[in-house]
Amino acid sequence: MADNEGAPPPTTTQDERDLLQYQSRIDRPLTLKVPEFSRDERLRHVIFSRQFSVDLLEDLAGTADKIRQLSKVRAGQDFLIGLLSHKRTMLYFTQPSTRTFLSFMAACQILGITCNEVRDPSTSSETKGETRFDSIRMFSSYFDLIIMRSPVARLAEACAYLMNDLAATGNRSVPIVNAGSGADQHPTQALLDIYTLQRTFQFASPKDSPIGTRFDEIRRQFPQLTRGLAHKFYGFCGDIGRGRTVRSLADLLAGYEGVTLAFVAPRHPTLSLGDDLRQRLLTCGVRIIEAESLEEPIDGRPLIEQLDALYMTRIQKEHNNPADEAAFTAIDFSRYKLNRELVSRMKCYAPILHPFPRDQHFGEIPPEIDADPRAMYFRQARNGMWIRAALLAHIFNVDHQISRYFHERFEG
Ligand code: NCD
Repeated sequence: MADNEGAPPPTTTQDERDLLQYQSRIDRPLTLKVPEFSRDERLRHVIFSRQFSVDLLEDLAGTADKIRQLSKVRAGQDFLIGLLSHKRTMLYFTQPSTRTFLSFMAACQILGITCNEVRDPSTSSETKGETRFDSIRMFSSYFDLIIMRSPVARLAEACAYLMNDLAATGNRSVPIVNAGSGADQHPTQALLDIYTLQRTFQFASPKDSPIGTRFDEIRRQFPQLTRGLAHKFYGFCGDIGRGRTVRSLADLLAGYEGVTLAFVAPRHPTLSLGDDLRQRLLTCGVRIIEAESLEEPIDGRPLIEQLDALYMTRIQKEHNNPADEAAFTAIDFSRYKLNRELVSRMKCYAPILHPFPRDQHFGEIPPEIDADPRAMYFRQARNGMWIRAALLAHIFNVDHQISRYFHERFEG
């Protein structure tokens, strides 16, 4: 008999071995898991973007708008900062991050939450053989919330089960927020992407509002245009296969009625739309278009001219394996870069989004586009701070307090 009888197969990585104890729960359909991530009709843990219903997205956007307004004046800032000044959070980020880390930190600061961080596991006891789960349990002893980013897909989900098991046995347990888990999910990025779209598509139809708005001219040009995210045509371009932000946002958009999602990527299994996401979107009744270029004609007109919003992504070459490297030499990657000419053919209101970082060497969005009013990516990143603050207010159940204060002091 082999020496390693009973041991995991030799191809299994330490990460996979760590997750084995949660595997049967991880493998369940999402509908069974989602209730376990809520408590008292509120999100307890934030693990997947599909935990957010369209109603909850509207609610969070409303809270984010109020936090944004309150933050403009000293009295509003003082009110917000007092709300959660008794809470502490751990930012456990073992994968590079600029915006997600800093915007979560800023969101905590807006609400008075104290932040602490572990970013480099080589400075933690994981180098002494401590498991990630022991680390997480320790964090939960000292902090009230754990926001985590990891290269390991499903680790945040497993940590949420660990916390639920601790709660069930009468132990201390805190919420887990997934700030990016491997190639898998990035639910709070999807939240800020949706919030940016919600703020963009505020076109009042003549029925919604008889008074003139800055959208009047757009309404004249596009009489069919309706307020909100439903019935719109969204384009995703670049590294569709490996982009966790694409997966999370597409999952959320699928919750809106009558959307079309176009995925523009090279026809290569690593880079194009994955089967699992395609199946999920089809099940939700989404119209899917897969194209190799933004210029590809769809129903007789180039795709780029039909989009209501364009989501650019960078090619995640740090994940290339040697076989990919060889196959990619045959691909014309220039098709996945924007330029002035392409942008000039887009609808005049269609926002250009990008989760960032953009790759200056590849140049999927060259800086010459930045001055275009449709370039939304810097505002999108700032929106991340407001919507993450709204999410924290939801988790800690102070969102109604924010609404009350806002209505009494600012609208009353
Ligand atoms: C992205 C990520 O980390 O998934 N960045 C982000 O969080 N805004 C996208 C990327 O790295 O390309």
